[in-house]
Amino acid sequence: MFTKETYIKRRASIKEQITNGICLFLGNNESPMNYPDNTYHFRQDSTFLYYFGMDYPDLFGIIDTDSGEEILFGDDLSIDSIVWMGAQPTLAERAVQYGIPNVQPLAKLNELLAQARNQGRKIHYLPPYRHDNKIQLFKWLDIHPDKLNEHVSKEFIVAVVEQRAVKSAEEITEIHKAVDITADMHIEAMKYIRPGMTEAEVAAKVHQIALAANGNISFPIIATINGQTLHNHYHGNTIKEGDLFLLDAGAETELHYSGDMSSTIPVSKKFSARQLEIYNVALNSHEAAIAALKPGVAFKDIHLTAARSIINDMKSLGFMKGDTEEALAAGAHALFFPCGLGHMMGMDVHDMEDLGEVYVGYEGKAKSTQFGLKSLRLARPLKPGFVLTIEPGIYFIPELIDLWKSNGHNAAFYNFDKIEQYKDFGGIRNEEDFVITEQGAELLGKPIPKKPEDVEALR
Ligand code: GLY
Ligand code: MN
Repeated sequence: MFTKETYIKRRASIKEQITNGICLFLGNNESPMNYPDNTYHFRQDSTFLYYFGMDYPDLFGIIDTDSGEEILFGDDLSIDSIVWMGAQPTLAERAVQYGIPNVQPLAKLNELLAQARNQGRKIHYLPPYRHDNKIQLFKWLDIHPDKLNEHVSKEFIVAVVEQRAVKSAEEITEIHKAVDITADMHIEAMKYIRPGMTEAEVAAKVHQIALAANGNISFPIIATINGQTLHNHYHGNTIKEGDLFLLDAGAETELHYSGDMSSTIPVSKKFSARQLEIYNVALNSHEAAIAALKPGVAFKDIHLTAARSIINDMKSLGFMKGDTEEALAAGAHALFFPCGLGHMMGMDVHDMEDLGEVYVGYEGKAKSTQFGLKSLRLARPLKPGFVLTIEPGIYFIPELIDLWKSNGHNAAFYNFDKIEQYKDFGGIRNEEDFVITEQGAELLGKPIPKKPEDVEALR
């Protein structure tokens, strides 16, 4: 944990930003897998962790911006729970470590919220994403779960997003740790993968590294010979000579800060000539994006820089044709790069995605609806302290190729005779994590091989 002053300052900032009403912070609860007592790995809500620090289920917090009170609500363990789980410090004892002066039983929160509603006071809440918390809000506020998002507090969302988006020095130290562990996961995979193994064996190997560091993975591992499927979580294939293996995996530290990296590994120890050509298209785009990272530049423009690099290289290789700027404006690169360049990262691997991409990545402005660009999670001008990923890729998605070939979408920019020959190619992605500094950007964590010869050297 950070010192209690960190949490006290964070909560004080909420009171500076929001000047009336009650801000309600929803902690997460245990989530059952197949019967109530057999639960998934517990993950606290990141905003709750950020302001209240307490990494336990069944807690709620409020900051009353009128009275200045900060209260943690929860119940101490009953003797039945102690029999099964062992003695634990009381909530009040734990709360002291986070500078929380006031701890009350959960039943008191029901009373406090009922009274606030009677008095017509504003109750600010953030977009709920857990069904149990939606039901809880329904009970407290009498807003149907389907309608809760219509009544979220934009003021509260913006205050939280703007504070969490700029990482402090102690957070950056923690993210470096997460990315170092993440780098170890990728380096191990580069050494480990052999034909005849299953994807599941690779996934297990890298997961073990995250667990052994006393944390966990920051999102479900993507370990696949079908990298053309962007978020492929199937691990049942056997790896064979000639395959390209795409690993997208990250660690989360004990304090719940994330790393997120991707690498693409030739199963046959060396890339084939065909693989090398496409790998370099992805890598050139990656390097062009990194070179453009600095405060004040809109991440959307860096995304377009990466896309421009892809168009130019794909033209040189004979996959695309036509005017680069026209192809870029039409989104023609999205046949090969149908997603965004990267996203914010912090306590969540897609940081604060629960609060809404439009607030996190677009400062409240509307997103593009163009295929490809609509999947860009971050577009806003960068500020020192922002932490983000850079992850352009080249994907040959047979279904998308067939569709655009048959419907003539952006037809002027493609040589389908060439593209057709690569329908079984798969996908390539490299991903690294950066913090924006006053001058430019700094790589987070230790570097992992990304030049083809450096990847091959580990094989
Ligand atoms: N690493 C998974 C993603 O960024 O979506
Ligand atoms: Mn990512």
